Amino acid sequence: MSEYRYQELENWLLQGIQEQRWGLGERLPSIRILCREQKVSKATVLRALHKLEGRGLIEARPKSGYFVTLQPDAVKHPVSRIGIEAPRSVNASDLLHDIMSRSAAFDLLPNLHTGDLPHGITVLNRSIGRSLRRQRGDNYQYYDEPAGNVGLREQLALHHARRGWVTSPDYLCITSGCQHALFLSLMACCKKGDVVAVESPGFYGVLQLLEQLELQVIEVPTSTNTGVDVAALEEVLKRWEVKACIVSPSFATPGGALMPLTSKKRILELAEEHDLAIIEDDIYADTAFGAIPDPLKALDTQNRVILCSSFSKCLSRDLRLGWVSGARWHQRILHLKLVTQLANSRYQQQGVAEYMKDGSYAVHLRRQRNALRERRDHLIAYLHAWPCDLRVSIPEGGLAVWVEMPEHVNTLLAYPEALKQEVVITPGPLFSIKGQFKHCLRISYEHPWNQQRVEALNRLPSILLP
Ligand SMILES: Cc1ncc(COP(=O)(O)O)c(C=O)c1O
Repeated sequence: MSEYRYQELENWLLQGIQEQRWGLGERLPSIRILCREQKVSKATVLRALHKLEGRGLIEARPKSGYFVTLQPDAVKHPVSRIGIEAPRSVNASDLLHDIMSRSAAFDLLPNLHTGDLPHGITVLNRSIGRSLRRQRGDNYQYYDEPAGNVGLREQLALHHARRGWVTSPDYLCITSGCQHALFLSLMACCKKGDVVAVESPGFYGVLQLLEQLELQVIEVPTSTNTGVDVAALEEVLKRWEVKACIVSPSFATPGGALMPLTSKKRILELAEEHDLAIIEDDIYADTAFGAIPDPLKALDTQNRVILCSSFSKCLSRDLRLGWVSGARWHQRILHLKLVTQLANSRYQQQGVAEYMKDGSYAVHLRRQRNALRERRDHLIAYLHAWPCDLRVSIPEGGLAVWVEMPEHVNTLLAYPEALKQEVVITPGPLFSIKGQFKHCLRISYEHPWNQQRVEALNRLPSILLP
């Protein structure tokens, strides 16, 4: 039976995808090119593309074209899972120090520095510069108020209101980054020896804080797809008296998990039943490739969720600007902010507030999220072709994927060897207190996908799989 032209084109495109002429996450030829080269009308091309889109094989991205979809079954999801153990104190490793001293937490090649300054950052720098030039009189001699610049807090409140959480600027406190916000939160609701439940694998910065504050830790098994295992958390809460629980519902590091609404609701119920403080690390939310998820805080009717975030992941780490909304612990957090920092830089906050107010931040975010999505696609498609059996998370936001390699791989042992070859890897054990996940790595796609980074990735299999 003869086919319609659109069916012929659909089949031709399908064959190209199957033969990997266009790999996972890659862009198909534009509509214009397809019309010209296949000698068909625009309507025919669109019909063929819509058919493939309907089959879930490709997806349209605004102003970018059609891309081969990352089908969940094309890449295997990570499955490693920890068991539950009694609370223990933390002894965080020197490894993090080494990685941080190389500025390498989110790049295999931290010394590359070839990326041009994104336009959004140039605009930000101008805004901060203007605010600095506006400084008058002896303003520079005075501290800003402890809660932080009210203009910035107003902008942050508006920003959150667009994500389903309405708050007053009075319930926000500016901090020196999200790490500082997490520190203040833990100090406000826990005391030495208290037990805190954390995600595992989870953010190493939190483990460092718990160690310093001499808190006991229970690691709760966490999927790099759907976040903390709520049933396991429930089990933990039945067995031990837990004071606080730290979660990252939106694109948790290391794997970019997105917590479903049912888990969020259950966590809040558990918090009420067990009189828990929930510390929500929301730092990756604005990196969402699709709609930005509402924070857990938006559902918090009991005033138990302390929300922590910062500009580090979407705008600039160099700003060292974050914020915390402290729920029932807010006054204490304000006091602790004063004790630990006195105040933030006023001109810098004003510059960022102006940048948000005139819409520049929203424009930057849009560009940034599109770029991140493309880089994620490149990385996953690349890893798909690695010469070993891998499981890789497919995050819908965040800056990194979690890669599970065969069990015999030891990423800790590979770390110094990789350094010799000028590559800095982020080994899995960094994300747990007991050195688990030795066969796992976090690999970031934050930076531009280029020849040098591909070459660095090319060197990894022989280092990791000797
Ligand atoms: C989950 C998470 N929370 C907090 C932080 C710390 O962020 P900041 O640079 O704002 O202190 C990081 C940094 O890597 C992170 O990944």
